[in-house]
Amino acid sequence: MTGAGVSAESGVPTFRDAQTGLWSRFNAEELASPQGFERDPGLVWRWYMWRLGQLEEAAPNPGHGALAELARLCESFLLVTQNVDSLHEQAGSADVLHLHGSLFEFRCAACAAPHHLTEGERGADSPPACGLCGDLVRPDVVWFGESLPWDAVGDAAAAAHRCEAVLVVGTSGLVYPASQLPLIARQAGATVIDVNPEPGPISAVADIFLQGKSGEILPDLARAVADLRTGG
Ligand code: APR
Repeated sequence: MTGAGVSAESGVPTFRDAQTGLWSRFNAEELASPQGFERDPGLVWRWYMWRLGQLEEAAPNPGHGALAELARLCESFLLVTQNVDSLHEQAGSADVLHLHGSLFEFRCAACAAPHHLTEGERGADSPPACGLCGDLVRPDVVWFGESLPWDAVGDAAAAAHRCEAVLVVGTSGLVYPASQLPLIARQAGATVIDVNPEPGPISAVADIFLQGKSGEILPDLARAVADLRTGG
């Protein structure tokens, strides 16, 4: 299970990093909310277009690549992410489960019709109108106070119940219900491994805490698993 920390070494600020530049005076949790969008759709739109630009500049780091390698080495492997970027997919991970949606997908705020963003709309100061109902288009991400895609939550929880080990990478473990997955796994008898430069709520319950940057630790972990698999 990954959080924003796995993308930090790709240059994507984590959610709780201080907002930079002109966005430093805004609270991310206010912008990433239905209330924020209702209050000022243009401001929220411009913030997401700024973040989308950051994601488009970013490339997967060795941590993303190592997770794709681990999937190839393990009999069964499910990658669940809280991230709205596509760096896991770019690194070769398949069937990534996005608990909080994707910043590369857009939908109507009213009728939920998917919306394909044109270049012109991408650079606009305010959200485009839905082609079907005319209401505003929004990013297809989960905002604070909104429910997660239940199929994704169901699949992630089912995996947590049956997995032998859960590798938690780069999350502060502050946001429910994603933060519950390692606890569900632990209660079901799985080994919990936390990869993070900082101790926190996950390392406090983990069986193994690998303290450090995921871009450095995960490649070593993948090599160790490969050696085990080949008897090296
Ligand atoms: N390698 C691994 N972990 C890192 C690295 C790194 N190089 N750099 C930072 N971290 C860790 C931080 O120590 C922190 O624990 O990544 C974590 C990032 O925490 P958050 O910014 O809270 O991101 P995340 O846990 O993904 O937030 C969960 O909350 O804000 C909402 O929807 C948003 O998906 C997000 C969710």
